[in-house]
Amino acid sequence: MKKLITGGLITTATDMYEADILIENGKIVQIGKNLAADGAEIVDATGQYVMPGGIDPHTHLDMPFNNTVTDDDWESGTIAAAFGGTTTILDFCLSAGEEKLTTAVDKWHEKAKGKSAIDYGFHLMISDLTPETETELPLLLEREGITSVKVFMAYAKEFQATDRTLFKAFKIAKDMNAVVMVHCENGSVIDELVEEAKQAGQTAPIYHALTRPAELEGEATKRAIELAHIAGAKLYVVHVTCKEALDEIISAREKGYDVYGETCPPYLTLDQSALAQPGFEGAKYVWSPPLRPKYHQEHLWNALKAKQLQTIGSDQCSFSFNGKKQLGLHDFSKIPNGGPFIEDRFSILYSEGVAKGRISIHDFVDMISTSAAKIFGLYPQKGTIAVGSDADIVIFDPTVKREISAETHHMNVDYNAYEGWEVTGEPISVLVRGEYVIKNKQFVGVVGSGKYIKRALKVKPKTAETINA
Ligand code: URP
Ligand code: ZN
Ligand code: ZN
Ligand code: ZN
Repeated sequence: MKKLITGGLITTATDMYEADILIENGKIVQIGKNLAADGAEIVDATGQYVMPGGIDPHTHLDMPFNNTVTDDDWESGTIAAAFGGTTTILDFCLSAGEEKLTTAVDKWHEKAKGKSAIDYGFHLMISDLTPETETELPLLLEREGITSVKVFMAYAKEFQATDRTLFKAFKIAKDMNAVVMVHCENGSVIDELVEEAKQAGQTAPIYHALTRPAELEGEATKRAIELAHIAGAKLYVVHVTCKEALDEIISAREKGYDVYGETCPPYLTLDQSALAQPGFEGAKYVWSPPLRPKYHQEHLWNALKAKQLQTIGSDQCSFSFNGKKQLGLHDFSKIPNGGPFIEDRFSILYSEGVAKGRISIHDFVDMISTSAAKIFGLYPQKGTIAVGSDADIVIFDPTVKREISAETHHMNVDYNAYEGWEVTGEPISVLVRGEYVIKNKQFVGVVGSGKYIKRALKVKPKTAETINA
């Protein structure tokens, strides 16, 4: 039951110091030098970083999408996440316009139940708001401890909401002190460009990128920012890929708007040329928004460094290349959108960011864990190493080199977008609430032991005044 982590270098978003950590009943109960073992199991972290477990704020596990379903479910997805140093995920619970939101949340609980190897929560996606779901939404957020709503401005055939629905979601979220996460791309114009490309006989994967220009991400980002601002709501822009969107976020933040931004490993490290490879190879790199020309990367790194972007999500949404990606062999618009990143999010950001001198180790911890905990209401239960926090801990060796490969990864897909990349640093052991999930690079966790985490909504009391305002 008790564990004592000894000899490591505790590394948080703000501090770095040598100390031992005593864990009891899943919580950190003491931090200090030379703590007495007193019967506790020793976890030797000599020479290693001891970091808060990664929090991945953007995953799609077992999600129906693009006429198929993702290849990673809650078992393979959370095991892979754990190998990669992630101890909590926040997954998008999909709802359909006409269905009760409660039904959607129940369905998502069923998907995760008995399968998740790490802790988890949900963001609730809204595609339409009827008078019924408008009434239901605040009650459900409160009941389920959900502090985040998701709205898509793209994917007209499946998820896209109208501006009016988006605005209504902002208003409800404002009253609940919840954050609205928005996929910012102009879906209607993209659909027109896709149609044009198909009429012209353009079928290859590269047309996925060419029909979703950065301007349409910038335009939608600006629209979401202004709608959120008028409603007085907090906005979180998911998967920011380009300078056009960044410029809008930076200018809004400079005006004091309550806007946050996330980017994802591929946008920082891969570029649009990946989709232009010969044959159908480019399908491995089809997700939305698409990869951009390389010069955008430096803008994203700079924005992360300047804290204009706060978090790194994996946007895990995996489809096997020899399986489901083949749906689009003759038509790029039928390639299921998404990639497998839940496992390498932590390693890629450490290796490309910290080891290459682009960001500090503290920035890294902030982006991989702490910021998401704060934005989504998990902090300080999660997202830091402090007395009273959950003992979600990664013991990370910053010196080892490792080659990424589909042969050795744990995601349920037949390719890795980083095949052959050498990364510096590796999570060696990972604990969730004080229990090993990964021990010396082996999975020793219990499938189904992950806990659903209710988050605290700081609901403002509805006084007569606020109702009339
Ligand atoms: O292509 C992607 N990103 N698939 C997942 C859905 C989304 O837009 O996040
Ligand atoms: Zn999206
Ligand atoms: Zn104003
Ligand atoms: Zn996504």
